[in-house]
Amino acid sequence: MRGRLHVVPDADALARAAAGEFLAYAREAIRARGRFTVALAGGDTPRAAYAQVAATWREWSGGPLDWSRVHLFWGDERHVPPSDARSNFRMARESLIVHVPLPRENVHRVPAEMPDPRDAASRYEVMLRDFFELDDRAFPRLDLALLGLGADGHTASLFPGDDAVDEERHLAVAAPGPGNGVGEWRITLTLPVLNRAASVVVLVSGAGKTAMLHRALEGPETEPLLPIQRLRPESGTLVWMVDREAAPWVR
Ligand code: 6PG
Repeated sequence: MRGRLHVVPDADALARAAAGEFLAYAREAIRARGRFTVALAGGDTPRAAYAQVAATWREWSGGPLDWSRVHLFWGDERHVPPSDARSNFRMARESLIVHVPLPRENVHRVPAEMPDPRDAASRYEVMLRDFFELDDRAFPRLDLALLGLGADGHTASLFPGDDAVDEERHLAVAAPGPGNGVGEWRITLTLPVLNRAASVVVLVSGAGKTAMLHRALEGPETEPLLPIQRLRPESGTLVWMVDREAAPWVR
C-alpha cells in the first residue's frame, strides 16, 4: 500500500480527525518554516473538516493557531464565480474563513470568475509562482495538499482520461470536469504540484467510495493508471484518512 492508512468509525470522527491533522500540520509548518501553505479540497468531507477546524482552533492543545501565518490555496475549483453555490472557495469561506482571523491577503483563491477557464488557470499559476517565488520551470512545495477521492478515481479535478492528468509543466490547468465539458469546467492543480507537497492527505467517506479506495490502496495497478493511483508524493508523506464505511475490509 502506498502511504499510511488511518481508519476512524464514521464521518463525524473523520471530520474531527482531519481537523486535528490540519492543525498539527499547520503548527509544525509554522514552527519549522514560519508559515503554513495548504491547498484545500472541495466536497462534503472537507467541508465538515473545515467546520471542525473553525470550531476547535482556539482550544487546540498545541495553543491557538496563528492565522496570520496561514495561506490558503485551492487544489481545484469549479469555473464559477466565488459567490456561486458550487464554488469551492465559497464552501471554504462559509465553513472556515469567516469564522477565523485569517488576513484577507492570505486567501489565494482561483480567479474562476474569469470568462475563459484557461485564463483562470494561467492567472492562478502566476499567483502561485509569485507567492512561492518560482522561476518558469520550478514547482512549489505546499506544506499540505488536502484531497478527496471520487468514485471514478478522480482527485482534485483530475478526471480519468483527461489531458490534465498528464500535465507535466504547468502548475494549474483547466479541465472539462465530469461529463467532458458538458457540465462546468474546472481549474485544477496538476500532479507535479500535488506530488511535491510535503504532506498529502486524502479524505474518504462512505460506502460509495469503497471499491475505488480499495483499488487505490491495494491495486491492481493496470495501465492507464487512474488519477488517484498517480498520486505518489516524491518526498512527502501520503495519508489516507477514511471512515469505516469506506474501508470495511480493514480490521
Ligand atoms: C470537488 C473536488 C473533488 C472531491 C471529490 C470527493 O470539488 O468536488 O474536486 O475532487 O474532493 O469528488 O468529494 P466528496 O468528499 O464530496 O465525496
